[in-house]
Amino acid sequence: MPLNLAIDGPVGAGKSSVADAVAKRLNILHLDTGAMYRAVGLAAIRQGVDPRDEAGVSTVCDHIAVDVRYGQEGQHTLLNGEDVTGLIRTEEVSMAASTVARYVHVRQSMVKLQQTLAARQDMLLDGRDIGTRVLPNATVKIYLTASPEERARRRFLELESKGSTDTYEQVLEDLKKRDQQDMHRAVDPLRPAEDAVVLDTTAMDFAAVVDAIAALAEAKRA
Ligand code: DC
Repeated sequence: MPLNLAIDGPVGAGKSSVADAVAKRLNILHLDTGAMYRAVGLAAIRQGVDPRDEAGVSTVCDHIAVDVRYGQEGQHTLLNGEDVTGLIRTEEVSMAASTVARYVHVRQSMVKLQQTLAARQDMLLDGRDIGTRVLPNATVKIYLTASPEERARRRFLELESKGSTDTYEQVLEDLKKRDQQDMHRAVDPLRPAEDAVVLDTTAMDFAAVVDAIAALAEAKRA
């Protein structure tokens, strides 16, 4: 049985960077599952399909290939063989991803792909439904959270460093909208698995969070 770690949580809880650091520490691959929903969102936008059009997006999903590859700097996300890693981080694609991730058809395809990848090797997956749906038998399940204001602050600083001119207030509003969509959708909404360890990172520093998760995984591995 491969070592499978599940990290779930809302936007801005620090999942991606924590997941990257923990995976490096344990020397295993990190699968950012949000990037796969982002690739579907990007495909819809490119084909002129409104992300709110479930039937249209489901058809788009049937005709694209989403895949991941690993290079020195980690995961590359591919859409029909094209490396779209750098194109899926805009606010437009973020919102589209959250919208298309509501659809059962899209979720089924992505979950299947994620399960196939995780069954092949030791892997840490981060997302929204990893502990509840993708890997119900994960070795360790973590639910990472923080207050909406702290999450918006982190996201604002990240976007600002990339040259975005969005204000903190806009970022907070978008984050609350995405929380609302991710936590209240009908299919596999974001919530902690019953056996997840919940870590509130509002007042925790990054290294402490990484140490705590790595220690839990090492204990299971031993
Ligand atoms: O983690 P992220 O912000 O890159 O994810 C983008 C969107 O994809 C997010 O709003 C919710 C959705 N998502 C999901 O529904 N299930 C996952 N396992 C990962 C992401």
